Amino acid sequence: MPSLDDVTRPPGRPHRILYGGDWNPEQWPEETWAEDVRLMRRAGVGTVTLGVFSWSRLEPAPGAREFGWLDRLMDLTHDHGIGVVLATPTSSPPPWMGRLHPETLPRDEDGRTEWWGSRQHFSHSSEVYRRHAAAITEDLAARYAGHPALTMWHINNEYCTHDWGDEAARTFRRWLRERHGTLDALNTAWGTDFWGQRYGDWAEVLPPRRAHYLRNPAHVLDFRRYTSDLLLECYRAERDIVRRHTPHLPVTTNLMPFWSGQDGWAWAAEEDVVSVDVYPDPRDPHGGQYNAMIGDLTRSEAGGRPWMVMEQAAGAVNWRGVNHPKPYGLNRLWALQSVAHGADAVCYFQWRQSRQGAEKFHSGMLGHAGERGRVFQETVRVGEDLARLGPRVAGSRVTADIAVLHDWNSWWAGDQEGALSRRVDHAELVRAWHRALFDAHLPASFAHPHHDLTGHRLVLVPHLYLLDDTAIENLTAYVRGGGTLVCGFLTGVADQDDRVRPGGVDARLRALLGIDLLHEWWPLDEGEHVDCGTFRGTLWSEELAPADGAETLAAYRGGDLDGLPAVLRNGRTRYLSTLPEPAALSELLAAAAREAGVRPVLDGLPARVEAVRRGELLFLLHHGRDPVTVPLPGRHRDLLTSAVVEGKLTLERYGVAVLEEHAADVPEEHP
Ligand code: GLA
Repeated sequence: MPSLDDVTRPPGRPHRILYGGDWNPEQWPEETWAEDVRLMRRAGVGTVTLGVFSWSRLEPAPGAREFGWLDRLMDLTHDHGIGVVLATPTSSPPPWMGRLHPETLPRDEDGRTEWWGSRQHFSHSSEVYRRHAAAITEDLAARYAGHPALTMWHINNEYCTHDWGDEAARTFRRWLRERHGTLDALNTAWGTDFWGQRYGDWAEVLPPRRAHYLRNPAHVLDFRRYTSDLLLECYRAERDIVRRHTPHLPVTTNLMPFWSGQDGWAWAAEEDVVSVDVYPDPRDPHGGQYNAMIGDLTRSEAGGRPWMVMEQAAGAVNWRGVNHPKPYGLNRLWALQSVAHGADAVCYFQWRQSRQGAEKFHSGMLGHAGERGRVFQETVRVGEDLARLGPRVAGSRVTADIAVLHDWNSWWAGDQEGALSRRVDHAELVRAWHRALFDAHLPASFAHPHHDLTGHRLVLVPHLYLLDDTAIENLTAYVRGGGTLVCGFLTGVADQDDRVRPGGVDARLRALLGIDLLHEWWPLDEGEHVDCGTFRGTLWSEELAPADGAETLAAYRGGDLDGLPAVLRNGRTRYLSTLPEPAALSELLAAAAREAGVRPVLDGLPARVEAVRRGELLFLLHHGRDPVTVPLPGRHRDLLTSAVVEGKLTLERYGVAVLEEHAADVPEEHP
């Protein structure tokens, strides 16, 4: 499959970063469309995503087809040099579907129906839904396969439905038979002799519905795996239809950022272009780190290939408790930051802010204030910057010496009703470790525990509660091969069926990490800390005995765990039995990185200035509001301003520089 840039770039034109967003013109009178495309051109928009929620327009009654309006839009965009990412409209079935076929509606775990009137009201398991979705996809693909505006397919939108109903019970059993083979094997995998849950007939096996008390965690784990897989089946079915019509065009579906419902590794493997929706909170002081993390994860899911920001907000969203706008410069900073982390497409939800419906207070690239509004002015500026960067950046890669391991199976398994502490949150732990790296100016990628890790000097495991045998052998081989490994607490506790490993932590892992015996886990309350000498630990602590030869780098002081290891080193591994406070975690990981021979991108970077190398270019991103001076070895040219800088560079509030090395004897280029 050619790159995103190759397939979406008009012939003979330079490389470019795709810029644009969801456009929902069916919400507007047609007179508005001409103004839309005029302003898109002004902003340098080269791509729009059409049709995401258009099913009830395209098929107003069962079997009817209304393509005229979309024909006009496809022609209009093409006439203005704008490419179309065409969405299959299947995330929001028309109301007639629910009325005529109530079995297409999902049921929640209490058996309540999720009705139409919002969106995503479909059961992934409903054959009727799937048949109708395939039919509209088929007709859409047939109609527009040859249209010159079409550049890419966008299947559905943020697949995120669940279903505990009878349709789901049927497909759950089918999925379980495929995974476990026999009912005996299922009983063994789920440990159903606990609380007398043994199944004697497949018909007794249900989705884990509301129950009197704690549900079987292995049952819930399989249901989460199954839900991700069933949604993926829906995606594949539509993808295969559009591929048949346009084998030369890439297909994507927009993943939610670091979301628990879809196994991102499995999904990304089925996409030609991996795309994500990312909405950092403008008020989050670490929002830039979050954006970086989503970029690193998405790039890694894409196997290092350029990826796509399918959605972000130009200003406020409308789904937090309080929704803050992005202050001047922040939208540009985060857009260019995604490019630094490997994105070749920067798109938004949505082009024009809606005047009606549930998202009328959600920002758009063109807000209610219109052409003269600040948000649109920034939209234009981002477009100019991307146009400058595209020819030099598109297609290039980002690499990192550090890999952070993450696996949805482990996330799902660890997040269970009977856990020792409901405060342990996989996503927050991964974020804390990524933030520790970000603060230490150490770039990272993500990897699955089965991936080949040998290309990374340092591998971090913030929290992999579930590790199967393949993963454990992979980690062991990585360390034997000379790699450096740092593991957080509650790693390697359970096998693939959420069965606790003998000894509480897998024996091979204990040998690797220098743990002789894990006596007890000691979770910590909100606000509770453990004194670890040079730092304080939070969230968790452990009563563990080190093996001979392992070195206690930091020990608990006082309390029940006095003298026991908080940080344990065994050869090239370290084990953290607590969560150090942020600065201490950052210093611990930086020390491990130094030992592994990993250096920050630049020395002497001020706090809140991020440096990322993409291909030959060095991105400097300032996440603070006060101007800051960055020491810079050698002579560089900033692609955004064409200025040549030597020795140091000043970044203004939320400033960005994209630098190429500039030899002293090369005459300065004038824009
Ligand atoms: C998601 C959806 C969009 C829109 C945005 C709002 O990403 O895909 O349709 O609802 O959220 O932030």
